Amino acid sequence: MTQRTKVAVLISGRGSNMEALVRAAQDPACPFEVVLVLSNKPEAGGLVTAAEAGIEALAVDQRPFGKDREAHERAIDAALRARGVEVVALAGYMRILTPFLVEAWAGRMLNIHPSLLPKYPGLDTHGRALAAGEVEAGCTVHLVTAGVDEGPVLGQARVPILPGDTEHMLSDRVLEQEHQLYAATLAEFVRGL
Ligand code: GRF
Repeated sequence: MTQRTKVAVLISGRGSNMEALVRAAQDPACPFEVVLVLSNKPEAGGLVTAAEAGIEALAVDQRPFGKDREAHERAIDAALRARGVEVVALAGYMRILTPFLVEAWAGRMLNIHPSLLPKYPGLDTHGRALAAGEVEAGCTVHLVTAGVDEGPVLGQARVPILPGDTEHMLSDRVLEQEHQLYAATLAEFVRGL
């Protein structure tokens, strides 16, 4: 088999999208392998899940770096390079990036966002979609560029917003789609490299 593309997944919390990518990569026909799961928060639940799946799980704690976000990112970047990572998948990585990391991985860093971008970038996407009376929601995988939740869209999935939906119900419905969309879009992306 030809060499699979080495992917690192960056998380900050529970890591259900990371888990979906790890699961997809368990299929030998998947064109990528997850070689590293990295979190800026040592307490992220996803680190435990990754380690249990036999993936290297690394915390690069942001706290010792204080306000120097670029120094933190340089430590992350060094960890990625040391493992021969080729593509970075942000999956619930809850820290805004500096131009350093964005530029270092330009064209090779993807993110998933739980809205139909360009609608509802940033936080509280489901609450805002419900408050606006939207009838449809969804998720987007896009390339990471300087602006938050901007960058060329690589794939989207849509779900209906149903009468009586709460944020929780809507986020569960979207999350199910996120897991499928991210794995499929990442596979398609690395095939095109
Ligand atoms: C997901 O909704 C993702 O789209 C957003 O943050 C959430 C992370 O969830 N960026 P998980 O950690 O992947 O479970």
